[in-house]
Amino acid sequence: MAYKLLFVCLGNICRSPSAENIMRHLVSAADLSDRITCDSAGTSSYHIGSPPDRRMNQAAQRRGLELVGSARQFEAVDFEAFDRILAMDRSNYRNILALDRDGKYADKVSLMCDYCREFATKEVPDPYYGGEEGFNNVIDLLFDACGGLLDEVRSELD
Ligand code: 4NP
Repeated sequence: MAYKLLFVCLGNICRSPSAENIMRHLVSAADLSDRITCDSAGTSSYHIGSPPDRRMNQAAQRRGLELVGSARQFEAVDFEAFDRILAMDRSNYRNILALDRDGKYADKVSLMCDYCREFATKEVPDPYYGGEEGFNNVIDLLFDACGGLLDEVRSELD
């Protein structure tokens, strides 16, 4: 059985699809695609069915990556379906745990930036209402966090 990762933000069109696609890219480069799988979701219903944001995809393309996906909303069944759930910011983290009524799954949920090794930032900032720099920053932060996350998961697999 593969180790299943779920990345979660608010809209599932900027940060979490970026995390999903960056992580899938690193997992593939490490030849671990059959052992680690990646998905993403949003805590809101705002953009269900939408592809990744065009500005976000442009930032990813500048780093050589094409974002694919279709937005969906995080739901309580995801707690059972995934091994680890990564929240992009503290608000996402709270909204995820609000659906864990019995407090059974708190150990599965972490903040994405806990896995950063270069950046000291504690959250992946919401880039939606800002400019190009915000989108570039999301990609840089996520490459850092995904690298740390991959090492962590890899150590759990063995
Ligand atoms: P995301 O960005 O949570 O990183 O996908 C956002 C996308 C849409 C909105 C907010 C943040 N929105 O308010 O529609």
